Amino acid sequence: MIVRSFVLATLVAAAGSAAAYPGGTPSYQTDVAPFCAGCHASRDVAALAGAGERATKELVPNKHLAVIRAGEAKSPYAKLSAADRATLVKHIEALDAASGVILEAPASVKPGETFTVIVKVTGGAGPVVGVGLVDRAHRWYARPAASVGWQVAAAPVVRSSGEEKTDWLHKRPADMGRNLSFVNVTGIHSDAAQNSFATAQVTWTLRAPKEMGELPLAAVYLYGTEKGSPLGITTGPLGRKGNVGGLGAGAGRVMFTDVQVIRVE
Ligand code: HEC
Repeated sequence: MIVRSFVLATLVAAAGSAAAYPGGTPSYQTDVAPFCAGCHASRDVAALAGAGERATKELVPNKHLAVIRAGEAKSPYAKLSAADRATLVKHIEALDAASGVILEAPASVKPGETFTVIVKVTGGAGPVVGVGLVDRAHRWYARPAASVGWQVAAAPVVRSSGEEKTDWLHKRPADMGRNLSFVNVTGIHSDAAQNSFATAQVTWTLRAPKEMGELPLAAVYLYGTEKGSPLGITTGPLGRKGNVGGLGAGAGRVMFTDVQVIRVE
């Protein structure tokens, strides 16, 4: 009996941890800074500018694809044949090539003005992707956009495959304010084997500070890759879909848009 309940508790704990990060942040409806995604791989060496060799180690080919190709006995990828590992890498490369983020923001705004910013993303394995507004295109130094003075004035409007999605944002009690600078976009499904890639967009309403000046704004995009390949999907104990490399894999991605400097004048 003691043994049984221990096994059950372990299973529940495993399922609980698997529900976060691969799967996005289903339980945390709050602002995020990209440093939290320590397991993810960088799409661009500039995302860790100043970190020396570490910046290179964090790149997709080194942190993720090399581990799949190697398929070392102790790694979760050892259960795939060499041919399947090669195909998985090809699918992931196609998914990364199809995954991107753009920021549409005005070049200048008036002090105190309310204005719209649109972030468009493509790709990402799903079931969700993470999108946020930050002040720097840097994994360790980026802060939520409000830190430099861009107040989020309303709840962001989240759309994927052309449909509005409120399920993630509405888990946050309305009386706490849903004017977040980070969201999980639900309803994402990409399949690199079928050359089918998701699209989504988030529209933010920001309020400029009262003082004139020049302020930075960038978008950050957090997505997974393995579940975007039929070879990268696993089914866990409670029927929950997981990624073949597991929680510790470098299968997540962090990418940024360029920093846009907006004049407040
Ligand atoms: C312990 C390692 C780890 C940490 C820490 C981590 N992630 Fe991830 N995350 C992953 C993995 C692995 C995947 C990729 C799953 C895949 O490839 O299918 C992922 C994928 C994601 C996805 C896409 C969802 C999906 O299933 O593909 C989002 C969004 C995400 N992470 C957000 C975050 C955020 C926000 C943080 C910080 C609060 C964070 N992650 C921290 C490992 C981590």
